[in-house]
Amino acid sequence: MMRTQIGIVGAGPAGLVLSHLLHLQGIESVLIENRSRQYVEERVRAGLLEQGTADLLVETHVGERLKREGLVHHGIYLRFAGCTHHIDFKELAGGRSVVVYPQNKVVADLFDARLAAGGQIFFEAEDVSVHDFDDSGARTQPKIRFRAGGEARELTCDFIAGCDGFHGICRASIHQGALKVYDRVYPFGWLGILAEAPPSSDELIYAYHERGFALLSMRSPRISRLYIQCAPDEDIEKWPDDRIWQELHIRLGTADGKWKLTEGPILQKGVTGMRSFVVEPMQHGKLFLAGDAAHIVPPTGAKGLNLAVSDVRVLARAFAEFYKSGKRSLLEEYSKTCLRRVWKVQRFSWWMTSMLHLFDTENAFDQRRQLAELDYVTSSRAAAQTLAENYVGLPMD
Ligand code: FAD
Ligand code: PHB
Repeated sequence: MMRTQIGIVGAGPAGLVLSHLLHLQGIESVLIENRSRQYVEERVRAGLLEQGTADLLVETHVGERLKREGLVHHGIYLRFAGCTHHIDFKELAGGRSVVVYPQNKVVADLFDARLAAGGQIFFEAEDVSVHDFDDSGARTQPKIRFRAGGEARELTCDFIAGCDGFHGICRASIHQGALKVYDRVYPFGWLGILAEAPPSSDELIYAYHERGFALLSMRSPRISRLYIQCAPDEDIEKWPDDRIWQELHIRLGTADGKWKLTEGPILQKGVTGMRSFVVEPMQHGKLFLAGDAAHIVPPTGAKGLNLAVSDVRVLARAFAEFYKSGKRSLLEEYSKTCLRRVWKVQRFSWWMTSMLHLFDTENAFDQRRQLAELDYVTSSRAAAQTLAENYVGLPMD
């Protein structure tokens, strides 16, 4: 039997940042992760940090490598109808910016910091389950049960943080009547590749094309990350490397000879489905949900990781207040506080997705409407500013 103050299920960005912030407040936590450290560190996911996320990592002393290797971007390009338009964050978002720095490096930096500080992380935990969290009364003691190293374990804690992602067990352990789900599944996915090729553009290019959306992103000065819109259940076997590059050339419009898409060996490829999802409230008794466990956004706005970090920032502050003063007011407001920002980010991610993708349920009218929207966004300062301030990140509070 073990005991801690906060038992955290899931060592992705949400769980790790939470554990780190709690440690800085003198609050003890234990992380329980069902994958290996190597698996979590190699998982290819998000690549873009809002300024607020990057600042938080730097201010809490886990941003050394981020400062060295992160690529600061002051804008993005929108490409449609054969032209490329720049959205300039310097001018439109009060000098705020974003940083290209991959999620797996964020996670690796946090593992290093937690372990160096004596933090406890159980990797490859099996049969993880959560118990006795229903009642928020002072006397109940939530428990996390799991198997690690072939041994059955039980962790007793004051509170549980469910940071175990969309497919985790925490949200599913809350009885159905207590939660309301808001959900939208999109009729497409993204086929993403990681390529050993220097990025072909100084900033990200979001391209609208009659064959579907494409995105040029990057991970480092040597590695490109590119995506094309595809069917949600696209068979990756039907996409040999040549076909992927060919489709990228078409959708990114390289035929005009104005710029060159540099190709290179494809290191990894995969298909991701797209959905918008929110569960309300984000708390039940002594179980608090954070990050993808509580909400999913389509990746078009690059918000998933950033939203996870803003949730746990609110949660860490609420736990800190509780342990300092015994007050529960911030804990009681946790869900409401987070959801205000979550819904605004949901709106932005949905809007970017709707503007840039081809929907097979829509017709030629809708395509003209999308082009008009892109034309408006790139020609009206007010509209461009709306995009810019959401993209660099709404205030965390
Ligand atoms: P996660 O990162 O999912 O972390 C949850 C952790 O919990 C994982 O380590 C998981 O192994 C662990 N876990 C799960 N179940 C259990 C269990 N039963 N017991 C213990 N541990 C458990 N966002 C972008 O902005 N851009 C992108 O390009 C992008 N690509 C993505 C691609 C994929 C395939 C996915 C799934 C997500 C992608 N996202 C992207 C979203 C972004 O990565 C997430 O929003 C972000 O990882 C959320 O962090 P999290 O900590 O809440 O959840
Ligand atoms: C990425 O680099 O993986 C990325 C960047 C921007 C997005 C989505 C994904 O909108």
